Amino acid sequence: MDKKAYDILLFSYYREAELRGADLILRLINRAENLSLQEKLTKHLADETNHAWLWTDRIRALGGVPARIADGYHRHLRRKTGLPSHLLELLALTCVVEERAQKRYDEHASRPDVDAETLAVLKLMRTDEEDHLAWVKEKLAELEHIEGKDKVAATLERFRQLEEAAFAEMDADEQQAIREITATVTAE
Ligand SMILES: [Fe+2]
Ligand SMILES: [Fe+2]
Repeated sequence: MDKKAYDILLFSYYREAELRGADLILRLINRAENLSLQEKLTKHLADETNHAWLWTDRIRALGGVPARIADGYHRHLRRKTGLPSHLLELLALTCVVEERAQKRYDEHASRPDVDAETLAVLKLMRTDEEDHLAWVKEKLAELEHIEGKDKVAATLERFRQLEEAAFAEMDADEQQAIREITATVTAE
C-alpha cells in the first residue's frame, strides 16, 4: 500500500469533517444568546477551523493537495439527523460529533506506523476535542434544569444512534475510496 497516498486521502476525510464541524458550530453561535456560550463557541470555532488547516498543512507537507470529499461524514450525518434548529439538539449533535473525533484520533494515534509530525497533530487535536466535549457536556447538564434530565438523555441517545449509523456508512465509503486510490497508485 502507498502510505503517502493513503495518508493524503485519510487526512482529506479528516479535514472535511473538521470544516463541516466548524459549520455546525457556526449554527450554534446563531442560537447562543448568553455571553459565556458565545465565548466558548468562538474558541470552539477557532479550534475546528485550525484543525481543518492543520490537516491541509499535513497534506501539503506530504506533497499532495486535499482531495474533494463529495460525501463525507457530515453529509451522511445530515441525512440521518436533518438540520437541528433547537439548542438541545444542536448541542447533542455536537457532543456525538466530538466523541467520534476523539475516537478516530485516538485510534489513529495508537497505530504503530504513525509518523512523528502526524502524531503531534493528532495529540494537539485530541486535547482540543477533550476541551470541546467538556464544555458541551457542561452545557447539556445545565439544560437538564430547563428541559428535564430524561429529555436530555433521550435526545443524546437518539443522536448517538443516528451518528453511529452515519459513521458506519461513511466508513464504508472511506475504506472503498482508500482501496481504490491505493490500487491505482500501486498499478502505476
Ligand atoms: Fe476538530
Ligand atoms: Fe472538536
